[in-house]
Amino acid sequence: TQSQIIFSGIQPTGTPHLGNYLGALLPWVHLSSSALPSTKLFFSIVDLHAITIAQSPEKLRGWRREMLRVLLALGLGEGGGVGGGGKRGRSTVFVQSHVKQHAELMWILSCTASMGYLGRMTQWKSKLDLKDDASPLDERKGKLKLGLFSYPVLQAADILVHRATHVPVGEDQSQHLEFARECVTNFNHAYGPQLVYPQTLLSPAKRIMSLTNPLKKMSKSDPSPASRILITDPPELIQKKLTTAVTDSINSVSYDPVNRPGVSNILTLLSAFDEEGRSPETLGQVYGTGMGLGAFKKLVGEAIGGGLETFRGAYEDVVKEGEEYLEDVERRGARVAEENAEATMVGVREALGL
Ligand code: ADP
Ligand code: NA
Repeated sequence: TQSQIIFSGIQPTGTPHLGNYLGALLPWVHLSSSALPSTKLFFSIVDLHAITIAQSPEKLRGWRREMLRVLLALGLGEGGGVGGGGKRGRSTVFVQSHVKQHAELMWILSCTASMGYLGRMTQWKSKLDLKDDASPLDERKGKLKLGLFSYPVLQAADILVHRATHVPVGEDQSQHLEFARECVTNFNHAYGPQLVYPQTLLSPAKRIMSLTNPLKKMSKSDPSPASRILITDPPELIQKKLTTAVTDSINSVSYDPVNRPGVSNILTLLSAFDEEGRSPETLGQVYGTGMGLGAFKKLVGEAIGGGLETFRGAYEDVVKEGEEYLEDVERRGARVAEENAEATMVGVREALGL
């Protein structure tokens, strides 16, 4: 049987918050520590995706390094042993733009990908607040950039160039995975069975909501820094953000996402950091009698601060290593990823007559 290849990516657009951590990065850590010896894992910092929205070059460079520090401190990547609290798995972390085969395969896939299918994707529409039935070409012509429309093709290329068999993603990305499979069908139908169908590994994590507006998801692009807890936040700051988190006028704890979204979101966070692994519902009952919201928030702040302590220590170790170390990690990651990607491209080019 074919051995497994796991691929996933994250955009270098800011320091990861608890939503990114629980929904994306923690599943990567679990996969890399539980994978069979024959499984290959690739985690990419997808800077080519980040430029679908204009970025300042300095910021992009800075965020790319920051994401690398975070991934290393989580124990991902080969890294040379710094960070990860001694729990390092065997994954390869690399920067997408360092491996040119991603962009090459994107162009090739775009020659067999369906415009109609891309036009039905919900994500790019929601980014521009387009109506569901808007045609890709009629509204806001000047503002619509081709890259924002076609980036699912790049995402498909990221996955397919590595012959990924499994792709861990959040719910928001499952439509893009289906599109990647569609790309395999279209390409293989035209040129023969070169590309491998990837399976979706859906993150089991609940969606984490904004601390300042619990009806919105916690997001890097939210203008309010108080809306999100970053995984690098020191305990005092975590505590402060919880203190100011929007709840409601009932001064007690209960899990009721519809009527009490703020308190319920904090219970979801507590559940994610609970050493006994209790559900938000159970924790709502445990703290439902005799505890006010102030004391409850304090308790949750301590749980999160404590849960991130090992990470924070590892992060500080990575920071101490300095930029040369990070450059070296990037170079080694790119080499491993390039070799894997090139093996796909040899067959693809041959099949096309390139
Ligand atoms: P952001 O909206 O913060 O920029 P991204 O789009 O970069 O987040 O998200 C990267 C991944 O992190 C997503 O695919 C998703 O799996 C996960 N993620 C992002 N925000 C949340 C959230 N609020 N709750 C749970 N998971 C999230
Ligand atoms: Na985003």
